Amino acid sequence: MSTSILTPPIMRIGAEASRAMPEVLQQLSLQRPLIITGPVVEKYGYLERVTAPLESSGIRYGVFAGVTSDPTDDTVEEALAELSLADYDCVVGLGGGSPMDTAKMVSVMAISGGCVRDYAAPVDNRDAGLPIIAIPTTAGTGSEATRVTIITDTITDEKLLCIGRAFMPTAALIDYEMTLTMPFRLTADTGIDSITHAMEAYVSRKANPFSDALSLAAMQSLYANIRTVCQDPENGPAREAMMLGSTQAGMAFSNASVALVHGMSRPIGANFHVPHGLSNAMLLPAVTAFSVHSAESRYADCARQMGMVPAGTHDVVANRILIEELQRLNEDLRVPSPMEYGIDYQAYTDLMPAMAEQALASGSPANNPVIPDRDQIVELYKSVYASSTTVSPVQSLSCVSAV
Ligand SMILES: [Fe+2]
Repeated sequence: MSTSILTPPIMRIGAEASRAMPEVLQQLSLQRPLIITGPVVEKYGYLERVTAPLESSGIRYGVFAGVTSDPTDDTVEEALAELSLADYDCVVGLGGGSPMDTAKMVSVMAISGGCVRDYAAPVDNRDAGLPIIAIPTTAGTGSEATRVTIITDTITDEKLLCIGRAFMPTAALIDYEMTLTMPFRLTADTGIDSITHAMEAYVSRKANPFSDALSLAAMQSLYANIRTVCQDPENGPAREAMMLGSTQAGMAFSNASVALVHGMSRPIGANFHVPHGLSNAMLLPAVTAFSVHSAESRYADCARQMGMVPAGTHDVVANRILIEELQRLNEDLRVPSPMEYGIDYQAYTDLMPAMAEQALASGSPANNPVIPDRDQIVELYKSVYASSTTVSPVQSLSCVSAV
């Protein structure tokens, strides 16, 4: 049986890659990009780093700098309005996942029209839009190398997962120097998001030898460097390893899918405005404990690959330590529980059934080693509310009953 693999046709990886846009535009016979970004990217000087070479080369460009975190369908419409003002022939997503995801949706809607919900999973979006150039400034969502975009529906407050080759960037310029000024919280949250991508791709029911190689390489370098970049933000080699790991993890999950952590994380983010990586971190130890019995050797590979246990450690021991180490990582990176984050208990519990439905509707839980039902997802939401670093007995019981 063969596996369909998709990656960006052009990738530039390493220091200064973000300055290569004139050359890449020429390779693609493109002349007029609209750069889609956010105010923070502009503030840190990364926009100028990208535009200065364009100006030296005499390339006309436009800028839409109105993307904030968790882009909505309204953000996409505003960017589309900007796009219509000139004869732009491509879009550039410059920033974290939010600008890159916005650029992807603008690319497709500029050609195919409609509204964001028309593109939501399970629709397989194949019709290419304008060429997309992705330049990440976090490590990260991996969006520069995925066929996925996530846009919030402002009417339902739902994060819509949209998938298909139409959303794969034509080119990705991956320059770790863009991440050297990321603050602690953003570094930690985006780093745990990448680790989650690598782990979920590896234990996914859609995992394949191509994605496995990328997952394993990614989780090794991400776990080895995440504490370093949080404590020593300007450590170039550690930032470079995180950036490469983030892209590898993105390529892995784009070709194998994410699973239950992401399925449950998106509704927390959409309903309570928790950053994506942080809501993943809140869930990762508990969902791993829930799932581990159905993929013991795979999860044990993760523990061994991340250096949590020596090679040769028995799977059962490796998996116990994996859960403990994921809890310790949350403690070290000061990941709050939903309660500590300030989420109201009543609002949280009232929304748990709807969040469980949204998680299931995204399709991600169906890729998990244990495919949960609605009640099990509600139990998991309940169990992480007070602590993101303690795996409760409820989960152990759910775990046994689910095998
Ligand atoms: Fe993610």
